[in-house]
Amino acid sequence: MAAVSPERISIERYRHKAAGYDASAQRTMPLRRRTIALLRLQPGQCVLDVGAGTGLSYPLLREAVGDTGLVLGCEQSPDMFALAEDRVRREGWRNVWHANESAERVRLPRTADAVLFNYVHDVSRSPAAVRNLLQQVRPGAHVAMAGMKFFPWWTGPLNLLAWLKNRPYNARAADLWHPWDLIQAHCKDFEIASTQCGMGYIAHGITREEHP
Ligand SMILES: C[S@@+](CC[C@H](N)C(=O)[O-])C[C@H]1O[C@@H](n2cnc3c(N)ncnc32)[C@H](O)[C@@H]1O
Repeated sequence: MAAVSPERISIERYRHKAAGYDASAQRTMPLRRRTIALLRLQPGQCVLDVGAGTGLSYPLLREAVGDTGLVLGCEQSPDMFALAEDRVRREGWRNVWHANESAERVRLPRTADAVLFNYVHDVSRSPAAVRNLLQQVRPGAHVAMAGMKFFPWWTGPLNLLAWLKNRPYNARAADLWHPWDLIQAHCKDFEIASTQCGMGYIAHGITREEHP
């Protein structure tokens, strides 16, 4: 029997999560703001929101790039994307372009100056997605990411807790040791810090001229 792809698993999980997502994500807003600040966005820039979900980061990204800037998004779950699309239409935003497309396949209409990976573990563990996205970003772009990770190995059973917390959201929940390393390989000046008492991380860097 053929294995079910991470893409299908993820789409199915977010079918059930989409309606309650914004309410459940309210407590993540301070960390979201901190991660977006690491992008050092300037008015007029073009920023990519990877796995944009319901578009919760769009207002913050728009505020940072201003009316002359552009926010790009990709989101593979039709249910999450529909809510992001409702948000864009409701707010009448003209400088948001987004697509209901996977990070592995999306084609951006413009080269991005900065990229946000906010709690998109399945994307950051997909070599095809990381390659496709970072080839459409200019060299020298700021990249910022945040998400969950395993505790150090010697904490043992605590990682069962981390896995259980991640499983409902991520098809690749067992791969939480170095969730940033595929992206780090495309960057210089990469820095990583622990959050949430060691169960989370925040990281940032600058894209290199050459891809690995
Ligand atoms: C925890 S949510 C985070 C959403 C948003 N980044 C935020 O901060 O609110 C993870 C999102 O990643 C999306 N996702 C997972 N794998 C993806 C892929 N390969 N391409 C695009 N989106 C993906 C999911 O559908 C889901 O909307």
